[in-house]
Amino acid sequence: MNTALITGASRGLGRALAVGLAREGYALIIDARDAAALDAVADEIRQAGGTVTALAGSVTDPSHRDLLLRAADGRLDLLVNNAGTLGASPLPALADYPPDALREAFEVNVIAPIALTQLMLPLLRERGGAVLNITSDAAVEAYAGWGGYGAAKAALEQASNVLAAEELAIRVWWADPGDLRTDMHQLAFPGEDISDRPLPEAIVPAFLRLVTERLPSGRYRAAHLLPAAR
Ligand SMILES: NC(=O)c1ccc[n+]([C@@H]2O[C@H](COP(=O)([O-])OP(=O)(O)OC[C@H]3O[C@@H](n4cnc5c(N)ncnc54)[C@H](OP(=O)(O)O)[C@@H]3O)[C@@H](O)[C@H]2O)c1
Repeated sequence: MNTALITGASRGLGRALAVGLAREGYALIIDARDAAALDAVADEIRQAGGTVTALAGSVTDPSHRDLLLRAADGRLDLLVNNAGTLGASPLPALADYPPDALREAFEVNVIAPIALTQLMLPLLRERGGAVLNITSDAAVEAYAGWGGYGAAKAALEQASNVLAAEELAIRVWWADPGDLRTDMHQLAFPGEDISDRPLPEAIVPAFLRLVTERLPSGRYRAAHLLPAAR
């Protein structure tokens, strides 16, 4: 049985990816800070016949990352660095961006996924595994107000790019999921009706293609991987 570690799996895209990968037969390790929400997802996956270890904690906490490594028990095929933060909200212009909020955005969106990847690399190399880093179009487009989040996601993209050049025994994918109807998206557009955005479940097949077809390392956009776009 293949094993996948998905960060930030208590809701939104991470939850949808966890359910999708469990259906594909992956044994899962999942995390998020809110233990109750995380356990509810784990229960749902178990009731559907899946295997899951749920560990509540923050990806920014080195001792929590060590627990995730121990839970893998020497075996990991896929690391999905999905947990993320929008940073300061409402989204401020860079001219007004509080440095502490900027630091937090980089801590969660860049430092933590790189540190977790460093921990898991020996296991991934051994099994010819893969890293999937969830990024954003804000990493490459200049949207006013998105400077903190976008700069952090751009850093994650370039780290992924270099990792792919260095780690030839594994796959490294960095992927923009597109706009999704999630808590984070609502936070970015407070008070706006976001019901026209797709639910995260709609793009899970795109990410499953990366995994099942073992596509080459590189940057992907979920919309281009969906069966309808082929
Ligand atoms: N939604 C979009 O339109 C969109 C577009 C482009 C990219 N993305 C990216 O897609 C990913 C998922 O976003 P989403 O929209 O699903 O967000 P979301 O609904 O806010 O879910 C974020 C998940 O990450 C967890 N999380 C946040 N900080 C964490 C931390 N420090 N440690 C561990 N878990 C943490 C949250 O749980 P807790 O709060 O309980 O920790 C939650 O499970 C993010 O990387 C985001 O940047 C989203």
